[in-house]
Amino acid sequence: MRIATAIANSNIAIIKYWGNRNDELVLPLNNSLSFTMDDRLQTKTTVLFDEEFTEDELWINDEKASEEERTRVSDFLEIIREKAKIKLKSKVFSENSFPKGAGLASSASAFAALAGASTKALGLNLSNKELSLFARFGSGSASRSLFGGAVEWNKGEKQDGSDCYSEQIIPKEKLSNLRNIIAIVERKEKKIGSRKGMKISVETSKLLPKRVEGVEKRLNIAKDAIINFNFQKLAPVIMEDSDSMHQVMQDSSPSLVYLNPTSHRIINSIKELNSQNKEYLGAYTFDAGPNAHIYTLDKNSKEIISVLKEIEGVQEIIECSMGDGIRFSESHLM
Ligand code: PMV
Repeated sequence: MRIATAIANSNIAIIKYWGNRNDELVLPLNNSLSFTMDDRLQTKTTVLFDEEFTEDELWINDEKASEEERTRVSDFLEIIREKAKIKLKSKVFSENSFPKGAGLASSASAFAALAGASTKALGLNLSNKELSLFARFGSGSASRSLFGGAVEWNKGEKQDGSDCYSEQIIPKEKLSNLRNIIAIVERKEKKIGSRKGMKISVETSKLLPKRVEGVEKRLNIAKDAIINFNFQKLAPVIMEDSDSMHQVMQDSSPSLVYLNPTSHRIINSIKELNSQNKEYLGAYTFDAGPNAHIYTLDKNSKEIISVLKEIEGVQEIIECSMGDGIRFSESHLM
């Protein structure tokens, strides 16, 4: 029996990944930058390979996963099997710490944990950098979840994708004052997943090339602000990049609208709070969905939470600190 268990946390990008230059190899158009969340947004995954299994099986939170989810995992494991030169099928057991049905994306933590557990079970002993090269095939953002703290995913230059890996910019210990206040505003799964959505944008959005040009400048400002821990420099760039990605989404055909009226109310409230205080108390960012992530400093998190609580449509608030990269466990799920 070949078995291993890995734990990985989700990450929320401040410079977003939206669009590939090569879909098959999942090579992005631009570098992206994220913070890895603490254990509140975590996936634990056990992978078991055995000669007796005739097909891959997937269980999520003790329930048999849908055929769509199973196929996505099985396609990913095919890449790992090829690397290991092994044909064995698997049973995969996965558990999320997220509040169930909170509408929080779990693909980043899920595929980072799956990459770690499956390769370890097959005796591949890869470094985190090597794992990040594999994880992106499951979900681009998963490449960043191998590391804790602030993480950059390099788009790379090579055609074969061998330089398209992630690396840590700053460990979580240097980010102990940073918080992500998550406002859950919708619990449903998104209609168009990110992989499909970004492909539509690459094919149809005229704004996307302009966004990609702007990313590099924002990325440098953001990295500098993180290294020097300057929230006043970081906050405007976070909001600009989220706005820019959502403009590209809307500019696509069909138009991709992921934000809802509550998301817009949150954007306006954060802008108002910042302008009233004449400094940045919070910086909003949204992935391919309406739930808000407000980066803030711990001294201001109470105020951000009290503002969010007053907004019509906000269903739940989760406060996250910055967290760790992948780790392995001997306590297997089965
Ligand atoms: O990891 P994917 O393939 O689901 O794409 C993630 C895209 C965004 O969440 C919208 C942005 C990002 O960089 O995480």
